Amino acid sequence: MTARSTLAEALHRKRVAVLISGRGSNMAALLEAARDPAFSAEIVLIASNRPDAGGLVTARDAGIALEVVDHTKFGKDRAAFDAALQAVLEKHRIELVCLAGFMRLLTEGFVAQWQERMLNIHPALLPAFKGLDTHRRALEAGAKTHGATVHFVVPEMDAGPIIMQGAVAVQDDDTEATLSARVLAVEHRIYPLALKLVAEGRVRVADGRCLIDGKPVPESPAFFA
Ligand code: GAR
Repeated sequence: MTARSTLAEALHRKRVAVLISGRGSNMAALLEAARDPAFSAEIVLIASNRPDAGGLVTARDAGIALEVVDHTKFGKDRAAFDAALQAVLEKHRIELVCLAGFMRLLTEGFVAQWQERMLNIHPALLPAFKGLDTHRRALEAGAKTHGATVHFVVPEMDAGPIIMQGAVAVQDDDTEATLSARVLAVEHRIYPLALKLVAEGRVRVADGRCLIDGKPVPESPAFFA
């Protein structure tokens, strides 16, 4: 590799698609971070599986390319939906995918095509509380610490090598609403940080775990304020 190609690679901002199904607040946090020209990733596409996703309005206002791949048009054929999604990602020459409240299970074949190039954010400290209603379940379980996780996507839902976590203390008087609001604020901080690390090529997976700059993922930043 020549010095010139190394420099070109360093200056290249990775082309990112954010996939949403709903309100898109994590998408908005990623868009905000990527407005900085020094941020190593550029959000070039927002794709939704729902034509009525609230986040589409935010994305339209930001002037980003939008694509809707409506899952209801594909019936039970998950492979056909994923093929349509793949075609859209290829059309926009996407290099990294961020799932941000994208509530569709993806087929193994699709996930394999994006191995270590597709990130997800989950509102819990994985491997605790996979699936839905994480905040209610954390309260019911009496968890003292809760939070959010950014991880690479693997075929199993809400699993995959952890890139970054952020923790919050659960207060005695927390409700689902207060706890989810504090966790969401953490999500908005850690997702851009995790994407930056991946886009800069600083995250590697070895034996199912992420290494950042060759070292184990550091302890979760705690947002206990
Ligand atoms: C976020 O809390 C995200 O972590 C969660 O959906 C919400 C989407 O909010 N994702 C999952 O539960 C995936 N397992 P947003 O549309 O405002 O970003």
